[in-house]
Amino acid sequence: MIKGFIFDLDGVITDTAELHYEAWKKLSDEMGWHFDRELNEQLRGISRMDSIKVIMDHNKVSLTDDAVVSLATKKNDIYVASLDTMTPDDYLPGARELLTHLRTEGFSVALGSASKNAIKVLEQLNATHYFDVIGDGNSVTQSKPAPDIFLFAAEKMKLPANNCIVFEDAEKGIDAAKAGGFYSVGIGPEERVGHANLRFDTMKQATLFEIKSFFGDLF
Ligand code: BG6
Ligand code: MG
Repeated sequence: MIKGFIFDLDGVITDTAELHYEAWKKLSDEMGWHFDRELNEQLRGISRMDSIKVIMDHNKVSLTDDAVVSLATKKNDIYVASLDTMTPDDYLPGARELLTHLRTEGFSVALGSASKNAIKVLEQLNATHYFDVIGDGNSVTQSKPAPDIFLFAAEKMKLPANNCIVFEDAEKGIDAAKAGGFYSVGIGPEERVGHANLRFDTMKQATLFEIKSFFGDLF
């Protein structure tokens, strides 16, 4: 039976991809590295340190560990400053409605995000109260596609994986959900999240009615 829902944050509750893009672009320009929206797509769902490694590999750059950490921190400072512009108007359409509906119906709801800034983002959106459990980039060491963040969230909700549905917009996020034995809903195109149990193009289509219709006997 489905008793809990675990939501990724970036790309599911709100769209921070553009802010991440701008921050990585600023750092890359300063460093003389190539960075574009296509490369930014590859960073969807993965941790900050994995992200900078993807960018450096793409640019065939190698630096000391300390230098890499300091550049990732620099990008993060730019990103965090840009979060101040985020308001409760910045939910992806449909996300707030679904969270409200799940609370009304008494489901357990958790966050399962790779971001170390998840709490700040939730505060900007005024969304913290929707979540019983917050799992973020500080909760586990192994990031997606490892299932650890979702297993952490399920354990805190005191639910087994097969009682939970994970919402994800990233290919590696769906990989993580599957690796942990969770049901999954993908938000985005077939080529990115087509391996989820159920897929919607946008959160707007992801109503509880549609989810219950699809998963049927599990409710
Ligand atoms: C994920 C984003 O939610 O968080 C990634 O999809 C990002 O693009 C990752 O790299 C880590 O975020 P942060 O806020 O810890 O740098
Ligand atoms: Mg995401």
